[in-house]
Amino acid sequence: MKRRGFPAGIGWTIFFSISTIAGAAATGDGPSTALKALAKECGILIGSAVDYSALVREPIYGDTLSREFSVLTPENEMKWARIHPQQFQYNFSQPDAMMAFAASNDLLVHGHTLVWHRQVPEWLSAGTFTREEMINILRSHIYTVAGRYRGRHLVAWDVVNEAVESDGTLRKTLWLDRIGPDYIDLAFRFASEADRNAKLIYNDFSYEPIGTKSTGVYNLVSGMLARGIPVHGVGFQMHLTTSGIDVSSFAQNMRRFADLGLEIYITEMDVRSRLPATPSQLATQAKIYRDVLDACLGQPACKAFQTWGFTDAHSWIPQFFQGFRAALLFDKNYQPKSAYEALSQRLRECPRPVPPGDSHVR
Ligand code: G3I
Repeated sequence: MKRRGFPAGIGWTIFFSISTIAGAAATGDGPSTALKALAKECGILIGSAVDYSALVREPIYGDTLSREFSVLTPENEMKWARIHPQQFQYNFSQPDAMMAFAASNDLLVHGHTLVWHRQVPEWLSAGTFTREEMINILRSHIYTVAGRYRGRHLVAWDVVNEAVESDGTLRKTLWLDRIGPDYIDLAFRFASEADRNAKLIYNDFSYEPIGTKSTGVYNLVSGMLARGIPVHGVGFQMHLTTSGIDVSSFAQNMRRFADLGLEIYITEMDVRSRLPATPSQLATQAKIYRDVLDACLGQPACKAFQTWGFTDAHSWIPQFFQGFRAALLFDKNYQPKSAYEALSQRLRECPRPVPPGDSHVR
Protein backbone atom coordinates (compact mmCIF):
# COMPACT_ATOMS: atom_id res chain seq x y z
CA MET A 1 0.00 0.00 0.00
CA LYS A 2 1.27 3.46 -0.86
CA ARG A 3 0.72 6.50 1.25
CA ARG A 4 -0.04 9.81 -0.33
CA GLY A 5 1.85 12.79 1.12
CA PHE A 6 0.73 16.36 1.61
CA PRO A 7 -1.12 17.61 -1.45
CA ALA A 8 0.04 20.73 -3.28
CA GLY A 9 -1.84 23.96 -2.73
CA ILE A 10 -1.44 24.06 1.03
CA GLY A 11 2.18 25.01 1.07
CA TRP A 12 3.67 21.54 0.91
CA THR A 13 6.10 20.46 -1.72
CA ILE A 14 7.03 17.13 -0.25
CA PHE A 15 5.40 14.14 -1.90
CA PHE A 16 6.00 10.78 -0.42
CA SER A 17 5.64 7.53 -2.24
CA ILE A 18 7.54 5.22 -0.02
CA SER A 19 6.24 1.72 0.27
CA THR A 20 5.16 0.23 3.50
CA ILE A 21 8.05 -0.23 5.86
CA ALA A 22 9.05 -3.28 7.79
CA GLY A 23 6.41 -4.12 10.32
CA ALA A 24 3.83 -6.64 11.17
CA ALA A 25 1.29 -5.73 8.51
CA ALA A 26 1.11 -7.84 5.39
CA THR A 27 1.81 -5.83 2.29
CA GLY A 28 1.54 -8.42 -0.40
CA ASP A 29 -1.46 -10.29 -1.69
CA GLY A 30 -4.07 -11.58 0.68
CA PRO A 31 -6.02 -9.88 3.40
CA SER A 32 -4.30 -7.06 5.23
CA THR A 33 -3.17 -7.77 8.74
CA ALA A 34 -2.77 -4.07 9.54
CA LEU A 35 -4.53 -3.03 12.72
CA LYS A 36 -7.07 -0.91 10.83
CA ALA A 37 -8.20 -3.82 8.67
CA LEU A 38 -8.54 -6.08 11.70
CA ALA A 39 -10.33 -3.36 13.67
CA LYS A 40 -12.81 -2.88 10.85
CA GLU A 41 -13.79 -6.51 11.16
CA CYS A 42 -14.40 -5.85 14.84
CA GLY A 43 -16.57 -2.82 14.08
CA ILE A 44 -14.33 -0.24 15.72
CA LEU A 45 -12.02 2.52 14.60
CA ILE A 46 -8.38 2.33 15.60
CA GLY A 47 -6.54 5.60 15.88
CA SER A 48 -3.61 7.59 17.08
CA ALA A 49 -2.69 11.13 18.00
CA VAL A 50 -0.35 12.63 15.44
CA ASP A 51 2.75 14.72 15.98
CA TYR A 52 2.78 17.27 13.19
CA SER A 53 6.53 17.75 12.92
CA ALA A 54 7.15 14.00 12.81
CA LEU A 55 4.57 13.70 10.04
CA VAL A 56 6.33 16.37 8.03
CA ARG A 57 9.88 15.27 8.68
CA GLU A 58 9.81 11.47 8.78
CA PRO A 59 8.27 9.58 5.86
CA ILE A 60 8.23 6.39 7.93
CA TYR A 61 5.94 8.12 10.43
CA GLY A 62 3.23 8.84 7.87
CA ASP A 63 3.69 5.45 6.24
CA THR A 64 3.13 3.62 9.51
CA LEU A 65 0.23 5.85 10.48
CA SER A 66 -1.61 5.41 7.20
CA ARG A 67 -0.90 1.69 7.08
CA GLU A 68 -2.12 0.86 10.56
CA PHE A 69 -4.75 3.40 11.65
CA SER A 70 -8.19 4.47 10.50
CA VAL A 71 -8.45 7.73 12.44
CA LEU A 72 -6.01 10.39 13.56
CA THR A 73 -6.18 13.05 16.26
CA PRO A 74 -4.02 16.17 15.86
CA GLU A 75 -2.00 16.10 19.09
CA ASN A 76 -1.62 19.88 19.46
CA GLU A 77 -2.52 21.67 16.24
CA MET A 78 -6.21 22.28 16.90
CA LYS A 79 -5.74 23.60 20.42
CA TRP A 80 -6.49 27.27 21.06
CA ALA A 81 -2.89 28.45 21.40
CA ARG A 82 -1.97 26.94 18.05
CA ILE A 83 -5.07 27.52 15.96
CA HIS A 84 -6.19 30.87 17.45
CA PRO A 85 -2.97 32.60 18.61
CA GLN A 86 -4.35 36.15 18.47
CA GLN A 87 -7.89 37.32 19.08
CA PHE A 88 -8.53 38.10 15.43
CA GLN A 89 -6.07 35.69 13.88
CA TYR A 90 -6.41 31.99 13.21
CA ASN A 91 -3.63 29.72 12.04
CA PHE A 92 -5.04 26.90 9.97
CA SER A 93 -1.98 25.83 8.01
CA GLN A 94 -0.97 22.88 10.19
CA PRO A 95 -4.44 21.49 10.93
CA ASP A 96 -5.35 21.96 7.27
CA ALA A 97 -2.27 19.97 6.28
CA MET A 98 -3.25 17.19 8.68
CA MET A 99 -6.79 17.17 7.32
CA ALA A 100 -5.40 16.93 3.81
CA PHE A 101 -3.07 14.11 4.80
CA ALA A 102 -5.99 12.26 6.36
CA ALA A 103 -8.18 12.77 3.28
CA SER A 104 -5.58 11.55 0.85
CA ASN A 105 -4.77 8.52 2.98
CA ASP A 106 -8.28 7.47 3.81
CA LEU A 107 -8.13 8.37 7.49
CA LEU A 108 -10.89 9.95 9.52
CA VAL A 109 -10.12 12.78 11.95
CA HIS A 110 -10.98 13.14 15.63
CA GLY A 111 -10.84 16.86 16.48
CA HIS A 112 -9.05 17.86 19.69
CA THR A 113 -10.12 20.10 21.39
CA LEU A 114 -12.57 23.01 21.37
CA VAL A 115 -12.45 23.91 25.08
CA TRP A 116 -9.56 23.22 27.43
CA HIS A 117 -7.85 25.16 30.20
CA ARG A 118 -4.33 24.36 28.95
CA GLN A 119 -2.54 25.53 25.80
CA VAL A 120 -4.64 28.66 25.89
CA PRO A 121 -3.24 31.79 24.15
CA GLU A 122 -2.03 34.71 26.21
CA TRP A 123 -4.57 37.13 24.74
CA LEU A 124 -7.31 34.94 26.21
CA SER A 125 -5.78 33.90 29.53
CA ALA A 126 -4.61 37.43 30.35
CA GLY A 127 -7.58 39.21 28.81
CA THR A 128 -10.15 40.98 30.95
CA PHE A 129 -13.35 39.96 29.23
CA THR A 130 -16.86 40.10 30.64
CA ARG A 131 -19.02 36.99 30.73
CA GLU A 132 -20.87 38.11 27.59
CA GLU A 133 -17.60 38.77 25.79
CA MET A 134 -16.25 35.36 26.80
CA ILE A 135 -19.37 33.66 25.51
CA ASN A 136 -19.03 35.52 22.22
CA ILE A 137 -15.37 34.55 21.98
CA LEU A 138 -16.23 30.91 22.68
CA ARG A 139 -19.04 30.91 20.12
CA SER A 140 -16.94 32.57 17.48
CA HIS A 141 -14.02 30.17 18.04
CA ILE A 142 -16.18 27.08 17.86
CA TYR A 143 -18.12 28.29 14.82
CA THR A 144 -14.88 29.13 13.04
CA VAL A 145 -12.93 25.98 13.86
CA ALA A 146 -15.66 23.33 13.88
CA GLY A 147 -17.36 25.11 10.97
CA ARG A 148 -14.19 24.99 8.89
CA TYR A 149 -13.77 21.22 9.20
CA ARG A 150 -17.46 20.32 9.03
CA GLY A 151 -18.19 17.52 6.60
CA ARG A 152 -14.54 16.97 5.79
CA HIS A 153 -14.03 13.48 7.23
CA LEU A 154 -13.82 14.97 10.73
CA VAL A 155 -16.15 12.61 12.54
CA ALA A 156 -15.79 13.56 16.21
CA TRP A 157 -14.84 16.51 18.39
CA ASP A 158 -13.52 16.54 21.93
CA VAL A 159 -15.74 19.52 22.66
CA VAL A 160 -14.75 19.96 26.30
CA ASN A 161 -11.59 18.45 27.72
CA GLU A 162 -10.79 17.74 31.38
CA ALA A 163 -13.45 19.87 33.08
CA VAL A 164 -13.85 17.64 36.14
CA GLU A 165 -11.52 17.46 39.15
CA SER A 166 -10.56 14.22 40.88
CA ASP A 167 -13.12 14.99 43.62
CA GLY A 168 -15.89 15.09 41.02
CA THR A 169 -16.46 18.85 41.11
CA LEU A 170 -15.97 21.17 38.15
CA ARG A 171 -12.36 22.17 37.66
CA LYS A 172 -11.61 25.81 38.36
CA THR A 173 -10.57 27.03 34.94
CA LEU A 174 -10.73 30.32 33.12
CA TRP A 175 -13.93 29.07 31.49
CA LEU A 176 -15.65 28.31 34.78
CA ASP A 177 -14.32 31.48 36.30
CA ARG A 178 -15.38 33.85 33.53
CA ILE A 179 -18.54 32.22 32.18
CA GLY A 180 -19.77 29.94 34.96
CA PRO A 181 -20.72 26.25 34.91
CA ASP A 182 -22.91 26.66 31.84
CA TYR A 183 -19.82 27.10 29.65
CA ILE A 184 -19.94 23.34 29.05
CA ASP A 185 -23.55 23.36 27.83
CA LEU A 186 -22.80 26.41 25.70
CA ALA A 187 -19.76 24.78 24.11
CA PHE A 188 -21.74 21.68 23.12
CA ARG A 189 -24.60 23.80 21.75
CA PHE A 190 -22.19 25.90 19.68
CA ALA A 191 -20.41 22.78 18.41
CA SER A 192 -23.70 21.24 17.38
CA GLU A 193 -24.69 24.42 15.55
CA ALA A 194 -21.32 24.48 13.78
CA ASP A 195 -21.26 20.80 12.79
CA ARG A 196 -24.47 18.81 12.92
CA ASN A 197 -22.82 15.54 11.97
CA ALA A 198 -19.74 15.21 14.14
CA LYS A 199 -20.00 13.18 17.32
CA LEU A 200 -19.63 15.59 20.23
CA ILE A 201 -17.58 14.16 23.06
CA TYR A 202 -16.75 15.02 26.64
CA ASN A 203 -13.12 13.87 27.17
CA ASP A 204 -11.27 13.38 30.45
CA PHE A 205 -8.53 11.39 32.23
CA SER A 206 -8.38 9.09 35.24
CA TYR A 207 -12.06 8.24 35.46
CA GLU A 208 -11.82 4.79 33.93
CA PRO A 209 -12.78 2.81 37.03
CA ILE A 210 -15.91 3.67 39.00
CA GLY A 211 -15.07 6.21 41.66
CA THR A 212 -15.49 9.80 42.74
CA LYS A 213 -14.25 11.36 39.52
CA SER A 214 -16.15 9.01 37.20
CA THR A 215 -19.33 9.70 39.17
CA GLY A 216 -18.64 13.42 38.76
CA VAL A 217 -18.35 12.95 34.99
CA TYR A 218 -21.43 10.72 34.99
CA ASN A 219 -23.44 13.37 36.82
CA LEU A 220 -22.18 16.05 34.47
CA VAL A 221 -23.16 14.27 31.25
CA SER A 222 -26.43 12.86 32.58
CA GLY A 223 -27.37 16.41 33.64
CA MET A 224 -26.50 17.65 30.17
CA LEU A 225 -28.65 14.98 28.55
CA ALA A 226 -31.54 15.86 30.87
CA ARG A 227 -31.22 19.49 29.74
CA GLY A 228 -31.26 18.45 26.09
CA ILE A 229 -27.62 19.30 25.46
CA PRO A 230 -26.20 17.53 22.38
CA VAL A 231 -23.51 15.36 23.96
CA HIS A 232 -23.02 12.11 22.06
CA GLY A 233 -20.16 10.38 23.77
CA VAL A 234 -17.51 10.27 26.43
CA GLY A 235 -13.79 9.89 25.90
CA PHE A 236 -11.67 7.92 28.34
CA GLN A 237 -8.14 9.17 27.82
CA MET A 238 -6.53 6.12 29.43
CA HIS A 239 -3.03 7.38 30.25
CA LEU A 240 -1.86 4.39 32.27
CA THR A 241 1.23 2.99 33.94
CA THR A 242 2.26 -0.64 33.96
CA SER A 243 0.23 -0.95 37.17
CA GLY A 244 -2.77 -1.05 34.84
CA ILE A 245 -6.37 -0.44 35.84
CA ASP A 246 -9.24 -2.42 37.25
CA VAL A 247 -10.66 -3.56 33.93
CA SER A 248 -13.85 -5.01 35.35
CA SER A 249 -14.61 -1.69 37.04
CA PHE A 250 -13.88 0.04 33.73
CA ALA A 251 -16.32 -2.28 31.97
CA GLN A 252 -18.95 -1.54 34.60
CA ASN A 253 -18.26 2.18 34.29
CA MET A 254 -18.58 2.06 30.49
CA ARG A 255 -21.89 0.27 30.93
CA ARG A 256 -23.43 3.06 32.97
CA PHE A 257 -22.41 5.67 30.38
CA ALA A 258 -23.66 3.43 27.57
CA ASP A 259 -26.96 3.04 29.43
CA LEU A 260 -27.38 6.82 29.09
CA GLY A 261 -27.26 6.29 25.32
CA LEU A 262 -23.73 7.66 25.01
CA GLU A 263 -20.98 6.34 22.78
CA ILE A 264 -17.64 5.45 24.34
CA TYR A 265 -14.26 6.40 22.92
CA ILE A 266 -10.87 5.38 24.24
CA THR A 267 -9.16 8.55 23.16
CA GLU A 268 -5.54 8.76 24.32
CA MET A 269 -4.28 5.42 25.54
CA ASP A 270 -0.66 4.89 26.46
CA VAL A 271 1.02 2.74 29.08
CA ARG A 272 4.23 4.28 30.35
CA SER A 273 7.08 2.11 31.63
CA ARG A 274 9.81 2.95 34.02
CA LEU A 275 13.25 2.99 32.47
CA PRO A 276 14.83 0.71 31.50
CA ALA A 277 11.77 -0.99 30.02
CA THR A 278 12.38 -4.65 30.80
CA PRO A 279 10.89 -7.55 28.81
CA SER A 280 8.64 -8.23 31.76
CA GLN A 281 7.39 -4.62 31.80
CA LEU A 282 6.76 -4.76 28.06
CA ALA A 283 4.80 -7.99 28.49
CA THR A 284 2.75 -6.38 31.26
CA GLN A 285 2.18 -3.36 29.06
CA ALA A 286 1.01 -5.61 26.21
CA LYS A 287 -1.48 -7.33 28.50
CA ILE A 288 -2.87 -3.97 29.65
CA TYR A 289 -3.39 -2.84 26.06
CA ARG A 290 -5.09 -6.13 25.26
CA ASP A 291 -7.32 -6.05 28.33
CA VAL A 292 -8.53 -2.51 27.58
CA LEU A 293 -9.20 -3.39 23.95
CA ASP A 294 -11.03 -6.50 25.10
CA ALA A 295 -13.22 -4.39 27.39
CA CYS A 296 -13.95 -1.98 24.52
CA LEU A 297 -14.90 -4.85 22.21
CA GLY A 298 -17.14 -6.24 24.94
CA GLN A 299 -19.14 -3.00 25.06
CA PRO A 300 -21.16 -2.29 21.90
CA ALA A 301 -21.15 1.46 22.63
CA CYS A 302 -17.35 1.52 22.42
CA LYS A 303 -16.63 2.92 18.98
CA ALA A 304 -12.93 3.64 18.86
CA PHE A 305 -9.64 2.61 20.38
CA GLN A 306 -7.14 5.45 20.01
CA THR A 307 -3.62 5.81 21.37
CA TRP A 308 -1.72 9.03 22.15
CA GLY A 309 0.92 8.53 19.49
CA PHE A 310 2.10 5.20 18.17
CA THR A 311 5.90 5.21 18.23
CA ASP A 312 8.15 5.65 21.25
CA ALA A 313 10.16 8.01 19.04
CA HIS A 314 7.41 10.62 19.46
CA SER A 315 5.52 10.63 22.71
CA TRP A 316 4.64 13.23 25.32
CA ILE A 317 5.72 10.86 28.13
CA PRO A 318 9.49 11.55 28.46
CA GLN A 319 8.87 15.31 28.61
CA PHE A 320 6.20 15.03 31.31
CA PHE A 321 7.22 11.98 33.37
CA GLN A 322 10.87 11.80 34.26
CA GLY A 323 12.14 8.23 34.19
CA PHE A 324 9.30 6.89 32.09
CA ARG A 325 8.98 6.19 28.38
CA ALA A 326 8.23 3.34 25.94
CA ALA A 327 4.48 3.81 26.31
CA LEU A 328 3.33 3.04 22.78
CA LEU A 329 2.81 0.25 20.24
CA PHE A 330 5.96 0.70 18.14
CA ASP A 331 9.48 1.21 19.42
CA LYS A 332 11.71 4.14 18.48
CA ASN A 333 12.72 2.36 15.28
CA TYR A 334 9.11 1.81 14.27
CA GLN A 335 9.29 -1.88 15.03
CA PRO A 336 6.08 -3.32 16.48
CA LYS A 337 6.29 -4.16 20.17
CA SER A 338 4.53 -6.87 22.16
CA ALA A 339 1.75 -4.35 22.75
CA TYR A 340 1.14 -4.15 19.00
CA GLU A 341 1.08 -7.94 18.73
CA ALA A 342 -1.33 -8.19 21.65
CA LEU A 343 -3.79 -5.81 19.98
CA SER A 344 -3.39 -7.52 16.65
CA GLN A 345 -4.02 -10.92 18.19
CA ARG A 346 -7.14 -9.74 20.03
CA LEU A 347 -8.53 -8.07 16.91
CA ARG A 348 -8.12 -11.34 15.01
CA GLU A 349 -10.59 -12.91 17.41
CA CYS A 350 -13.41 -10.78 15.89
CA PRO A 351 -15.69 -10.30 14.03
CA ARG A 352 -18.37 -9.45 16.47
CA PRO A 353 -21.91 -8.75 15.33
CA VAL A 354 -22.60 -5.21 14.14
CA PRO A 355 -25.93 -3.86 15.44
CA PRO A 356 -28.18 -2.76 12.56
CA GLY A 357 -28.43 0.98 11.86
CA ASP A 358 -25.50 1.75 14.13
CA SER A 359 -23.43 4.93 13.80
CA HIS A 360 -20.78 5.93 11.27
CA VAL A 361 -17.92 4.24 12.99
CA ARG A 362 -19.33 0.78 12.67
O1 G3I B 1 6.36 23.60 20.07
C1 G3I B 1 7.13 24.05 21.20
C2 G3I B 1 8.56 24.27 20.80
O2 G3I B 1 8.64 25.32 19.88
C3 G3I B 1 9.38 24.58 22.06
O3 G3I B 1 10.74 24.65 21.71
C4 G3I B 1 9.20 23.50 23.11
C5 G3I B 1 9.92 23.84 24.41
O4 G3I B 1 9.50 23.00 25.46
O5 G3I B 1 7.82 23.39 23.40
C6 G3I B 1 7.05 23.01 22.28
O6 G3I B 1 5.70 22.91 22.67
C7 G3I B 1 5.35 21.81 23.48
C8 G3I B 1 4.27 21.03 22.75
O7 G3I B 1 3.77 20.01 23.58
C9 G3I B 1 4.80 20.38 21.48
O8 G3I B 1 5.80 19.45 21.79
C10 G3I B 1 4.82 22.33 24.80
O9 G3I B 1 5.89 22.91 25.54
C11 G3I B 1 4.20 21.21 25.59
O10 G3I B 1 3.57 21.75 26.75
C12 G3I B 1 3.16 20.51 24.76
O11 G3I B 1 2.69 19.42 25.49
C13 G3I B 1 1.47 18.86 25.05
C14 G3I B 1 0.53 18.80 26.24
O12 G3I B 1 -0.69 18.17 25.84
C15 G3I B 1 0.20 20.17 26.78
O13 G3I B 1 -0.52 20.05 27.96
C16 G3I B 1 1.74 17.47 24.54
O14 G3I B 1 2.52 17.53 23.34
C17 G3I B 1 0.43 16.75 24.25
O15 G3I B 1 0.69 15.40 23.99
C18 G3I B 1 -0.46 16.83 25.47
O16 G3I B 1 -1.70 16.25 25.13
C19 G3I B 1 -2.66 16.13 26.19
C20 G3I B 1 -4.03 16.19 25.55
O17 G3I B 1 -4.16 17.35 24.77
C21 G3I B 1 -5.13 16.13 26.61
N1 G3I B 1 -4.97 14.96 27.43
C22 G3I B 1 -3.66 14.80 28.04
C23 G3I B 1 -2.59 14.80 26.96
C24 G3I B 1 -1.23 14.53 27.53
O18 G3I B 1 -0.87 15.56 28.43
